Amino acid sequence: MSADKVTNGVERAADGFRAQPKGFATKAIHVGQSPEQWNSMAVVPPISMSTTFKQTGPAQHKGFEYGRSGNPTRDVLEKCLASLDNGKYGLTFSSGLGTTTCVVTMLKAGDHILSGDDIYGGTNRLLRNVAMNMNISVDFVDCTNLAKVEAAIKPNTKLIWIETPTNPTLKVIDIEAVCKIAHKHPGVVVVVDNTFLSAYLQRPLDLGADIVMYSLTKYMNGHSDVIMGALVTNDEALYTRLKFLQNATGIVPSPFDCYLVNRSLKTLAVRMERHKSNSLAVAQYLEKHPKVEKVLHPGLPSHPQHELAKKQTYGHSGIMSFYIKGGMEQSSVFLKTLEVFTLAESLGGFESLAELPSVMTHASVPAEDRVVLGITDGLVRLSVGLEDIDDLIADLKQALDRV
Ligand SMILES: Cc1ncc(COP(=O)(O)O)c(C=O)c1O
Repeated sequence: MSADKVTNGVERAADGFRAQPKGFATKAIHVGQSPEQWNSMAVVPPISMSTTFKQTGPAQHKGFEYGRSGNPTRDVLEKCLASLDNGKYGLTFSSGLGTTTCVVTMLKAGDHILSGDDIYGGTNRLLRNVAMNMNISVDFVDCTNLAKVEAAIKPNTKLIWIETPTNPTLKVIDIEAVCKIAHKHPGVVVVVDNTFLSAYLQRPLDLGADIVMYSLTKYMNGHSDVIMGALVTNDEALYTRLKFLQNATGIVPSPFDCYLVNRSLKTLAVRMERHKSNSLAVAQYLEKHPKVEKVLHPGLPSHPQHELAKKQTYGHSGIMSFYIKGGMEQSSVFLKTLEVFTLAESLGGFESLAELPSVMTHASVPAEDRVVLGITDGLVRLSVGLEDIDDLIADLKQALDRV
């Protein structure tokens, strides 16, 4: 997409979002993939299933010794992932939550985590029911309010965990501003869970984050057939520590899954463009529908942080939410009537999904917190897939007609 204007030093595309610099799709296809690294000169990196590697002498090897500490197929993927986020180092894990677990194990009893308040339910559960049991304290803060972020940092704060846009209410957090506040305090590491947008639509390291985290299960793989996670950083000391923990905790992915994600990255740019246009069309349709109370989509001018979304992202993905007029009865009828959208958890795959966060993905968030966050029984989350847009809109129409 060509840039047509520059605002505050940021090149903007015709839709007002950041203009995608050249080269992303080329990196996704080529970085780490050179055929010369294999004796066979294979263009598609081979799946190396071996759990152990022959040594030329005791403790002398050609980069790989045991499959948990390193694997050629994983190595190819980690290099490619790092390049997509303009990072130096990539690490992969057996799930997104396993990735978060690895980050949390960098901390010790007595440390403090400042987390966004509107995060993936499983991350909330991990921080509340696992990290807190290890005497790590956690505060959940509305990070769209920078004064609250500043006030919540303590002398023992070691980690700031944010997810933007947030899940499921799609609030946008100013990554650059949070990092500036955090980095006034030496030793505070900012991690951005970038699962909702993928490396194609948002690159947190460029905005000052120390680590970008993914549930690769979602857009990065995009085919709903792999559970995996990743971290990317430019900080050598953090990488060394996390690489040690990846092996020490053993939360590693299988070579076969690494192969699948590496394959999927080759189409990330084209998939995300389609997710972007399909979800915006759905959001515009729903915003005019009489049975819809409110649509939450950062690409809509009505979104409270639309300008911030345009400043820090390259567009919005397929994930969006809306409030149906009424409550559980209306949302249940709507969700059960959908035919093209599948009623299921997860997001980011080629297929369109719909779910009710209050009783599905966010059921583990305490009820009183759900009220504050606006996760009501009328809040429906959609993951808009890659189907024909006319079919998606016709499906939403027929389901809303039945409400
Ligand atoms: C934003 C976000 N982060 C992390 C996770 C956890 O990832 P995984 O399911 O791969 O463990 C999810 C899963 O839904 C998610 O949506």
